Amino acid sequence: MFEPSIPAYDDNFNYDFLVALVLLGYWAAVARRLHRLPHARTAARLRRSSRRLALAAVVGALLVPARLVTSLVLYGYGWHFAADRLLIGVPLVALPVLATLLVTVPALRRLGRPSPEDAAEADAPPASPAAAAAPRVSFPARAVAVGGLVSFVMILFAPAPPLLVPALVSYGGVALVLVVIWRRHANRVRDGVVRPLPRGAARVRRVAVGTAAVLVLVGGYAGWDWQTSKLPDDYRMTEQAMTYGKGPGPVDHSAHSHGVGLPDRPLTRFTGPAGKPDKRFTLIATDAKLTLSSGTTVDAIAFNGQIPGPELRVRQGDLVEVTLVNRTADTPTTVHWHGLDVPNAEDGVAGLTQNAVPPGGSHVYRWRAEQVGTYWYHSHQASSTQVRRGLFGPLVIDPAQPGPAGVREFVVAAHVFDTDKGDTSTLNAADTLRREAVAPGTPVRIRLINADNFRKYFTLAGTPFKVTAVDGGAVNAPTDLYRTKLMLGGGGRYDLEFTMPSAPVRLTDLAAVGAGLLLSPDGQGELAPLTDGPEFDATRYGSPAATPFGPESHFDRSFDLVLDNRPGFYDGQPYYLWTINGHVSPHVPMLMVREGELVKVTISNRSFLEHPMHLHGHHVLVLSRNGHRATGSPLWLDTVTVLSGESYELAFRADNPGLWMDHCHNLQHAAMGMTMHLGYEGISTPFHAGRATGNLAE
Ligand code: C2O
Ligand code: CU
Repeated sequence: MFEPSIPAYDDNFNYDFLVALVLLGYWAAVARRLHRLPHARTAARLRRSSRRLALAAVVGALLVPARLVTSLVLYGYGWHFAADRLLIGVPLVALPVLATLLVTVPALRRLGRPSPEDAAEADAPPASPAAAAAPRVSFPARAVAVGGLVSFVMILFAPAPPLLVPALVSYGGVALVLVVIWRRHANRVRDGVVRPLPRGAARVRRVAVGTAAVLVLVGGYAGWDWQTSKLPDDYRMTEQAMTYGKGPGPVDHSAHSHGVGLPDRPLTRFTGPAGKPDKRFTLIATDAKLTLSSGTTVDAIAFNGQIPGPELRVRQGDLVEVTLVNRTADTPTTVHWHGLDVPNAEDGVAGLTQNAVPPGGSHVYRWRAEQVGTYWYHSHQASSTQVRRGLFGPLVIDPAQPGPAGVREFVVAAHVFDTDKGDTSTLNAADTLRREAVAPGTPVRIRLINADNFRKYFTLAGTPFKVTAVDGGAVNAPTDLYRTKLMLGGGGRYDLEFTMPSAPVRLTDLAAVGAGLLLSPDGQGELAPLTDGPEFDATRYGSPAATPFGPESHFDRSFDLVLDNRPGFYDGQPYYLWTINGHVSPHVPMLMVREGELVKVTISNRSFLEHPMHLHGHHVLVLSRNGHRATGSPLWLDTVTVLSGESYELAFRADNPGLWMDHCHNLQHAAMGMTMHLGYEGISTPFHAGRATGNLAE
């Protein structure tokens, strides 16, 4: 049931980085010395240097197996964590190092023989400067240095699959540089005399030309990246389609193109059912100065004047109608039903499923509550700032058949607010300890929502408890947990249940141990927060149960997503980007499916932070985590928190036609481009995104 957190991926990444850096520096130095070998002052020095450099080359060759080992350690996390290294980075240094050992080292040995007479006897070239200037002496080592440079830069830019283009560029680039070096080498020796190394003005000129060439190359790339990163003022969010998903033939990815089997269906057709609603709510968005329990003030935007917004509680089967009224001064907004697989047009994504509701405007959402459990709602327009400032609230769907009576429920949304005192972790806007009286013997349910960007760790002290639901989905046969630490990624939910003991129970967010929720028979008492414990692993908790598909199923389509970092530009600004398969939105190709298909998605996180990946409109079944089958209760998630170094295999049925967001629920990351879409063939959107449209899609 427990798994220690995955052995430090970033440490292992750093070892690999370090070895690549040392390899580059070392071989650059060796190559330089070898290149200068012919210019040794005396023959004796030349011999001595040759012997030393032969040894240096042999020692330096050991860096290749070292890099292979660090790459293989990364391979331990999965193929995508090492593919670029094993296919490109390591061969780029291994091949020239091999050439160095086979060609350069014997040549250096000959050059290093004690005296010219011995050398003559041994039928070898004499230790003359001309012999030391032969290509075999320095060229292979220079090739190692060039390969080492490309191999190192590749770590920074982290090519994602498909690797064909990065491979061609890397191998091609190295080959090109080597051709230039080789040609220059050709005229090093004239009439048996080695040309002197450039000095003075000639030297300056050469350095200047080299520097200029590098600047033009790097500057050209950066300029191109900078310009192409600028977001168009008006664009469609779903312009490109994934080209390398495995499936039955290509799917038409441009809903605007013609001549394909399916007629074009605008997503606006996929609305909730008509009829008289069973439940009606109004959410009024306003600007509001609000206070946390400590009195700290928040410059908020809030639904119905409160943070979090009002709890919307409905019963399974209800037809729900929610009217969003925008009374903010100047904040267009929407509402998205996080975790509810509503019809596409009700999904609340500005620029994709609707236009943002302008100040003074309103919008009606209608959907039938088909799922049961703990969900939440939030703005999906400029959400990284709007949710942060308070435009979110809990949403609970009770089962059609009411459960046992007398359960005390606490719906607790964890969120970090920007306050006048800086970032403050809260539970339901409380940044101090909240106390509640609960009679011993009472069944208690805590519905925990992480409405923040980053993963949070929670503990429950004072009682064993069960995790009875994850992301709203009930856990089959949950068992008691004791002193366990619960990791909950951004956007995710857990339901915790226990029977109230006669002593206090304390819920703690480890980011704010002084705050939290203290339950006790009389609403008084003390209990120290539990600050550590074995970590809960939902993929091994509870008991297996039947699922409509599983790891052995035949998948109609499968996609591979690699999450990573690289330096680059987003909308004209330089950042360390959060990428999906090397891209940032709107350049991340869409996952394209046909209605009814069974789809598999593999997500590998090579970056340095966790990414809570949230697919709208669908729940995914976790097949495996880090290569291990999920063995517990079937785990259906809407938000899959993939930690650094982790990988997940997920499956879902494409049964909710439309165009759907699939993004990191660290909303900062989403705003910076860690966003993609799931598209059904033949479905189009009439909505546009971009500054000029007022729809800030994120
Ligand atoms: Cu909770 Cu796309 O969002
Ligand atoms: Cu992220």
